[in-house]
Amino acid sequence: MEVVIQQDPDKVCKYAAQVVAEQLSRKPASVLGLAAGSSQLGLYRELIRMHKEDGLDFSKVNTFNLDEYAGLPPEHPCSYHTVMSRNFFDYINIPRANIHIPDGMSDDIPAECQRYEAAMRELGGIDLEMLGVGADGHIGFNEPSSSLGSRTRLKMLTEKTRYDNSRFFASFDEVPRHVITMGVGTIMDSRMVMLIAFGKQKADVVSKLIEGPVTAMVPASVIQFHPRAKVIIDEAAAQKLKLKQYYKWAFEQKPKWQGL
Ligand code: GLP
Repeated sequence: MEVVIQQDPDKVCKYAAQVVAEQLSRKPASVLGLAAGSSQLGLYRELIRMHKEDGLDFSKVNTFNLDEYAGLPPEHPCSYHTVMSRNFFDYINIPRANIHIPDGMSDDIPAECQRYEAAMRELGGIDLEMLGVGADGHIGFNEPSSSLGSRTRLKMLTEKTRYDNSRFFASFDEVPRHVITMGVGTIMDSRMVMLIAFGKQKADVVSKLIEGPVTAMVPASVIQFHPRAKVIIDEAAAQKLKLKQYYKWAFEQKPKWQGL
């Protein structure tokens, strides 16, 4: 795992956007896995800027979002369909047909989950999966105790996650209890994973996922098993890492030929 420590959230997002741009320059028809948490918004802003100012091209890109609330219509202001359009897709040149988000309104959720997995396979799998992390260690909406081999499926949110996400909703009661999420195994099939996190409120979970034991109780810790995992965090989120100085030193000494 490569740990990249940047000074502040802005620099985390800019660095992460460069990783995406490097991926697209290597493979313009990349399949990107996307997250809809608030940590990703600065990354999307920077990618939009690169699209507008530097011509970063998304015309051949396909995207798969990690998750969606079950029972929220796509036009609901808090659905991840809306969050993604308003913060990213409306401002880049990705064809609508190339955007994939689970259908939270499906009346056959198991079939929808299978369809989603099949669509990823048909496009050759995810090249770069972008991740955030919940305070309880969830990735996508894989809450603690999720099987580390799980595939796309219906999950029940913990009350903690419902509470954390209630800041986007009119009230706590409006936050759905069920979601469709890629599984931990689905995420691990990606060729590369890039997790970003910032702020002191994420310092505990960041130290657990990087330096703690791999456990279903911290689903994000499974990326320790991924052959190409990059974690990009700011100083505040890095403050509890035992090997913080080593990660910084390794980053400074990184050979140029390795790219980002
Ligand atoms: C949300 C999303 C995750 C996200 C995480 C952290 O519930 N389903 O994909 O990574 O929780 O969110 P934030 O970035 O807002 O802290």
